Amino acid sequence: TITVKNNERHVLVTGGAGYIGSHTVVELLKDGYNVIVVDNLTNACEESLVRIQKLSNRPLKFYHANILDEKILTEIFEKYNIWGVLHFAALKAVGESTKIPLEYYWNNVTGSLNLFRIMEKFDVYNIVFSSSATVYGDPDMIPVNEKSSLGPVINPYGKTKLFIEETLRDMCNADNKWNAVILRYFNPTGAHPSGIIGENPRGVPNNLMPYVSQVVQGRLPFVNIYGDDYDTFDGTGVRDYIHVCDLATGHVAALRKLKTKPGCVAYNLGTGVGYSVFQIIKAMSRACGKDIPYKIQQRRPGDVGIVTADASLANIELDWYPKYNLDQMCQDLWRWTSINPMGYPESIIEKKNKL
Ligand code: NAD
Ligand code: WQD
Repeated sequence: TITVKNNERHVLVTGGAGYIGSHTVVELLKDGYNVIVVDNLTNACEESLVRIQKLSNRPLKFYHANILDEKILTEIFEKYNIWGVLHFAALKAVGESTKIPLEYYWNNVTGSLNLFRIMEKFDVYNIVFSSSATVYGDPDMIPVNEKSSLGPVINPYGKTKLFIEETLRDMCNADNKWNAVILRYFNPTGAHPSGIIGENPRGVPNNLMPYVSQVVQGRLPFVNIYGDDYDTFDGTGVRDYIHVCDLATGHVAALRKLKTKPGCVAYNLGTGVGYSVFQIIKAMSRACGKDIPYKIQQRRPGDVGIVTADASLANIELDWYPKYNLDQMCQDLWRWTSINPMGYPESIIEKKNKL
């Protein structure tokens, strides 16, 4: 049989129903891309995609599928003229990855390898990969730049990111048809300013920001501050928080970069400004107009004192500059939380079914 390819240029977005993926798809649609999302909805629900289309007033194509599924991916690549792939799909909970490492290696590493092999089979050589500041381990220089040494990474989640990065570097070295933009996100937070899409954590959040917002809602009693004896100005951990909509425009910039056939390049996406846990609690308190209770606890195993980004390479080479400050991150997170107190409606139904 002869497959007639749809002539429009498409980008494939794996994990596009998730937190960062959904915000990026909004920007891609705005920028005129035709978007195909593949997501197995292990940590997302279809409602995010319904809302993206309303917000953008443009349609997208959705496959409820696993990136490990060679047959479905092959079908998609046969059907559409795909120009490039934005690869978000991954399991991402650091703590969980130490408990079920095999699941993390299988999903993240084998899933990525499967995707890359199918891309190669269909002569699709442009990829943007979601990596993380975690690949730097405990950096010896702050702010951390892309020349800093990578690792050692102690948790399986971080190891999957480092291994996929290394795979992409080897692939680009071996064959100059391949082009990969690796984006190392620092601490993503906030939500779309419309309050219509945002992060939808399942169960008790692991990350500070969603945890704090659930304390404000009264769903959790207080914030646990994991250590006030770090070598930072107030003793609590300092991180580089970045608005998810700034990350989204970073991906559009990465696609522009891919058009110049750069080989394998890695960029930090952060603001360069670090905030402590105390400062985060104060900023969220300002955004929602409520006091936020907290308790000082022991350090969380594996945490480091301070991580901030030197993002000047992305500023220069991608012409990408973050626009949102901490107060806007907190206001947008709080708007999303107020409008959607239990996240997307589908997840309320799912939670009820589990009871
Ligand atoms: P998310 O969980 O909201 O999004 C990931 C999406 O991938 C989910 O929708 C999930 O259902 C999907 N998915 C997972 N495994 C899949 C599979 N095998 N097949 C198809 N779909 C699958 O997470 P996010 O915060 O949006 O993160 C997106 C990417 O960015 C991930 O690769 C993550 O590791 C990376 N990252 C996230 C952060 C962060 O703090 N949020 C920081 C650095 C890097
Ligand atoms: C931020 C600060 C904590 C929760 C993680 C991953 C990283 C990346 C982003 C995926 C730290 C403190 C936290 C709480 C607290 N994800 N904290 N109480 O650890 O910088 O990065 O998410 O790639 O790989 O490791 O983010 O939000 O968990 O913590 O005091 O309940 O808040 O100690 O200083 P982290 P985080």
